[in-house]
Amino acid sequence: MAVTETKKINTIGVLTSGGDSPGMNTAIRAVVRTAIGSDLKVVGIEKGFQGLLEGKLAPMDITSVSNIIQRGGTILKTSRCKEFHNADVRREAYNILKRNNIDGLIIIGGNGSFQGAMALSQEHGLPVIGVPGTIDNDISGTDYTIGFDTAIQTATEAIDKIRDTAASHQRTFIIEVMGRHSPAIALQVGIATGAEYIVFPEHDGKYEEMISIIKAGQARGKTSSLIIVAEGEKAGNAQETRRVLEVEHNIPCHLCTLGHTQRGGSPSARDRFIASQMGFHAVNALTSGNFPVATSFVQGSVTTVPLSECLGRRDGYAKPFTDLIRALAI
Ligand code: F6P
Repeated sequence: MAVTETKKINTIGVLTSGGDSPGMNTAIRAVVRTAIGSDLKVVGIEKGFQGLLEGKLAPMDITSVSNIIQRGGTILKTSRCKEFHNADVRREAYNILKRNNIDGLIIIGGNGSFQGAMALSQEHGLPVIGVPGTIDNDISGTDYTIGFDTAIQTATEAIDKIRDTAASHQRTFIIEVMGRHSPAIALQVGIATGAEYIVFPEHDGKYEEMISIIKAGQARGKTSSLIIVAEGEKAGNAQETRRVLEVEHNIPCHLCTLGHTQRGGSPSARDRFIASQMGFHAVNALTSGNFPVATSFVQGSVTTVPLSECLGRRDGYAKPFTDLIRALAI
């Protein structure tokens, strides 16, 4: 544990940053309730780091978080703030926090948000806690990020519906799922929906294998196929997959992009359960002088790890599933 300071915390700020994810509201609720229960004041910062720079700060009380545990999105709103890469801008943000008597900050978000948090800690000694919230499940140092479970359930339900029509019309469907740098959504959803093939970042371009699986299925009398494509870092993976199928192999297909449907909706019980624990642990870490850390889900339990361990992207995600995917796709 990274115990760096024991400065007394009286007022904490909380913000959500980056892409929203189901369960962020549950985490905000847990932060506010835990803090108020510990006689702390809480200031909600709207629109992430952007809103901080714009001075969008307002005190929160118990009623601020009533009836939000089940709501998707984030009541604090969010943004992606490019200016925060600039050290002068971060200094201004720190000064705004100081002027508002905020002693510590809880940042609920993904990799980019954690980088901003770490910079505030290193450059200004601000006590910060990261709470991993992104549907992508791609943050190093934690096995889980809030929102992932809901997102894969949303995608699975949508793809089950596509399967019905694909089977009825004997069609091949390509379904693009989110997860910019991460294969996690594509892998879990692909396995859960019984897809014939999954195209994900570490596996790009291996179209021969995809074609041979689809053709083998057709030879055995399969009349419809589902191919899940992770959107990947560069746009166009799904279109390229379609081109290979249609142009190179004369297999007509339909393309469906699930897009932002995967980010919305009421959080699953798992997301609420983990978000509640993470919000609670985040406040306790601040009050016990344990920062900069991130709340982390490791081996089935919520704990804290040094924030420095959570600045990278989680890798090696796909490896344990490669054999499973091959075994089930025949
Ligand atoms: O929040 C993560 C994520 O949903 C990624 O899966 C996706 O690539 C990205 O955000 C989309 O972001 P935006 O809504 O800003 O275009």
